[in-house]
Amino acid sequence: MPRMPRTAKEETIDENKIQLDPKKYIVSKTDTKGIIEYGNDYFTEISGYTNAELLGQPHNIIRHPDMPKIIFKLLWDRIKDGKNIYAVIKNLSKDGKYYWVITETEPNFDALTNKPESYIAYRKAASDKVIKEIEPLYQKLLEIEKSSGMEGSQKYLSGFLNEKGVTYDKYIAKVIGIAGIKKVFFNTMKRIFKKNKHKI
Ligand SMILES: Cc1cc2nc3c(=O)[nH]c(=O)nc-3n(C[C@H](O)[C@H](O)[C@H](O)COP(=O)(O)O)c2cc1C
Repeated sequence: MPRMPRTAKEETIDENKIQLDPKKYIVSKTDTKGIIEYGNDYFTEISGYTNAELLGQPHNIIRHPDMPKIIFKLLWDRIKDGKNIYAVIKNLSKDGKYYWVITETEPNFDALTNKPESYIAYRKAASDKVIKEIEPLYQKLLEIEKSSGMEGSQKYLSGFLNEKGVTYDKYIAKVIGIAGIKKVFFNTMKRIFKKNKHKI
């Protein structure tokens, strides 16, 4: 059967979207200020930057303008508090393309003070289903941020979650299906990464 011609809009979207390998993971590590200290090979490959260009740079080097600020506030509040957080993030590559990931970010603790001394993020490709669920919410949050700042988006997000009767964690777990196979995937990649940690 002949394929339906795609609209110009769809062409543009497809051209800019980086298709991630669902079997690979993207790992990066930062200091407590979010300065990149390490990125695995897939991180450099997908971001389009060299290792030298990434190391020492703030992690917002790959921040996509479509991402609402409130999501990063949630992330930072959580990890500074010594806890991990899952998030769906749209990232920007050096050449202006984008890629969606499911991310778990967690602190590493200083053995003496027991305070976070660095942070690590583990990521894998977000499916189209996950993107379809999260994108309209992010668009709404961003729109609100443009008109009434992060206070507005925070309020909207609280209302959105209250209406569903869930916490952020419960909501995101449902969106990404973390209870099942994904959890196993993250735990596996963490084990592999931690085993090789001495190489960083
Ligand atoms: C370990 C770690 C990984 C991060 N990964 C990303 C990322 O993949 N993309 C991103 O935009 N921000 C990431 N951030 C958040 C950035 O530090 C930053 O808060 C975000 O890009 C928003 O930039 P802004 O604070 O300048 O608005 C990460 C932070 C940490 C601690």
